[in-house]
Amino acid sequence: MLLAKVATHYRKIRGTKTMKSLADAGLLDRINGSARLMIVSDLDSTMVDHDDPENLSLLRFNALWEAYYRHDSLLVFSTGRSPTSYQKLRNEKPLLTPDIAIMSVGTEITYGESMVPDTGWTNHLNWKWNRDIVVEETAKFPELTPQSETQQRPHKVSFFVEKVKALEIMSFLSEHLEKRGLDVKIIYSSGIALDILPKGAGKGEALAYLLQNFKVDGKVPLHTLVCGDSGNDTEMFTIPKVHGVMVSNAHDEMLQWYTQNAKNNPSIIHATERCAAGIIQAIGNFCLGPNVSPRDIRDFKKCNVDIFSPGHEVVKFYLLYERWRRAEVDKSEQFVKNLKSGFCPFGIFVHPSGVEQPFHQCLDSMAKLYGDKTEHLFRLWVDRVSSAQIGSDTWLVKFYKWELSGDERQCCVTTVLMSLKQPDGFTWVHMHQTWLEGSRARDQTAWCF
Ligand code: GLC
Ligand code: MG
Repeated sequence: MLLAKVATHYRKIRGTKTMKSLADAGLLDRINGSARLMIVSDLDSTMVDHDDPENLSLLRFNALWEAYYRHDSLLVFSTGRSPTSYQKLRNEKPLLTPDIAIMSVGTEITYGESMVPDTGWTNHLNWKWNRDIVVEETAKFPELTPQSETQQRPHKVSFFVEKVKALEIMSFLSEHLEKRGLDVKIIYSSGIALDILPKGAGKGEALAYLLQNFKVDGKVPLHTLVCGDSGNDTEMFTIPKVHGVMVSNAHDEMLQWYTQNAKNNPSIIHATERCAAGIIQAIGNFCLGPNVSPRDIRDFKKCNVDIFSPGHEVVKFYLLYERWRRAEVDKSEQFVKNLKSGFCPFGIFVHPSGVEQPFHQCLDSMAKLYGDKTEHLFRLWVDRVSSAQIGSDTWLVKFYKWELSGDERQCCVTTVLMSLKQPDGFTWVHMHQTWLEGSRARDQTAWCF
């Protein structure tokens, strides 16, 4: 029974473009059939709270996702940002790697970490679209201030415009562009941004396209949850059979849309929590699966976690490790003893510098570092946890371990061999870390786990 719970099935899924692209990007290996949950979330002011320099709700979401969902669910980021500006946000914030990225307000779709583009989608957007004509017509409106060059994309022309002028300009523009033979969509977001896209584009259309592709292959996710805060997100809420959460900090234009169009729709909620905390709230509200982030659990021994998985094990270990160095747990020998009990005494840790040490020696070194990070902004999070059962009671677990300390951020690609420890967990048998290219620590021999 226990084994059945943790078993990861490896199965190639072929078929539609989306499925094929996901498979090519190496992402479907872990999913057996349909995804249990697909979260499609906006980034700015939805997944990312720009008013929270510590990124606490995002880190809570990350721990929840990697512990309970990563192995059988799909994470989709749907942002208005262009690929360059999306990349910039990823470098600044502790964002997980999504399975699918929808960028530039639903005009660009890529799959996997390597961001394989969906060229079929882009080609489809050429219908009744001519960027030059859009630029020519919009130049007639001095109230429109063009956004930076990096936000201008082949199927997205973007401006800033004051709220009081927006409505009137939008209606003028649609008329002008229609007369010139184009079929466009004009979207106003966050009380400031105006985007002009081909009619078939947008966050909603892009989501519908993905769902259609999953459907053709008989792999529609069991549940889909869309999450947003501003104008360009509203069309995601109109897609049939999806749950939706407007985060507590949603903009007026979204709340107005809701009041006028979807007030009695029980599948959409307005969360009382901000940003990623609102997403976690929605998971609980719609009963989509576990909704208590491991970050919110103080005592893992007391809580009955009913999902027993390598992902949960990894998330739990790094949280305990972070709390030890931030002095957020009591400094006790028992704490270190408990940690040690999860490690094979003579198991080996291969540090990214190449130095090898038995686990218990590493844990003794760690014990000495109690509270050394109280002054720093120190956080750990794991991304892309995957596991393969390679024996009756053995798993090979791989993940990307990120560490933020002050202004320094580093990442180690980590592989752990784990074996089952009756009755309640895993034993870490062997562990190997390598710097992720471009993410080495300044002091490359500094002790870490
Ligand atoms: C993001 C994009 C911007 C766009 C806005 C609204 O902020 O960077 O170009 O106008 O979303 O869609
Ligand atoms: Mg937003």
